[in-house]
Amino acid sequence: NAKIMKGIILSGGKGTRLSPVTDATSKQLLPVFDKPLIYYPISTLISLQISEILIISWPQMIPLFRSLFGDGSHLGLKIQYAIQDDPRGIAEALIIGEDFIGNDNVALILGDNIFISDALDSSITNSFDEGATIFTVKVNDPERYGVVKFSEKKIEDIVEKPKLYLSNQAVTGLYLYDHNCVQFAKSLKPSQRGEIEITDLNKIYLNNNNLNAINLGENASWMDAGTFNSLLEASNLIHTLQKRHGRLFGSPEIASLQANFINQDQLKHNLSKKPKNSYYKKILSHINPNV
Ligand code: DAU
Repeated sequence: NAKIMKGIILSGGKGTRLSPVTDATSKQLLPVFDKPLIYYPISTLISLQISEILIISWPQMIPLFRSLFGDGSHLGLKIQYAIQDDPRGIAEALIIGEDFIGNDNVALILGDNIFISDALDSSITNSFDEGATIFTVKVNDPERYGVVKFSEKKIEDIVEKPKLYLSNQAVTGLYLYDHNCVQFAKSLKPSQRGEIEITDLNKIYLNNNNLNAINLGENASWMDAGTFNSLLEASNLIHTLQKRHGRLFGSPEIASLQANFINQDQLKHNLSKKPKNSYYKKILSHINPNV
């Protein structure tokens, strides 16, 4: 499969649920234990072997993301930035990204979604050819999410925040699309909450018999860190996992090394400019277990 897969991180929204914490900064820059929230989704894209990435946010926040990542070259990435001036819906990310996507495939990920899953690696990207792929996780509170109903392993229906119980399979904030997604997104009408819904886009693929779902399984963890409670829970989870396994989760430096986007020398060079705090020490110990 010769098609490149590009990546888009949708990192806008006004974060009103987290005010006053987000009055002067972006939600996706808030710490989740020892790193900014957006480090987790960018690491997920890198684990999928995606190196060309578009970060979309609202105008005031672009300089902040730029000061965090620059052009991404230190991580072996090509990072570009684009503006969404109002949160008009998740599917709008694909319209904003039209030129960036071109004729390639694209992975869209929400900037507040944390995935802890070994399943998300290059085999997924390599086996994607056309259509759309969504990723599901079993949850206790499906009414908060997009939800998928299966019959005999085939997707029967997909509903945004169902009021009546449909199933417990939530649709996570990671979506793989072929380039047709741009034209499909342009055809969407705003929903009752005034947004062009990603679920409506996925329904187009479903109606075309071209929507595939991958269940991340019982060993995966997934969270959207959009509330005070979920931010704290996410921090606690990462703290616990890192302590138990003695390694970092959601480090773009380590993900880039493992994806062969940078080599050990480049990483060591990057680290020479960083403070020797516990985050960077953990990265060093990853390269050289004797440190
Ligand atoms: O987290 C997964 C869920 O995300 C899915 O299960 C749902 O199907 C999907 O609709 C979405 O649900 P939410 O209601 O949680 O989405 P929310 O409006 O909170 O937006 C998710 C993130 O995307 C949030 O960090 C803000 C950002 N965003 C959202 C919109 C609508 C933007 O940057 N721009 C936007 O226009």
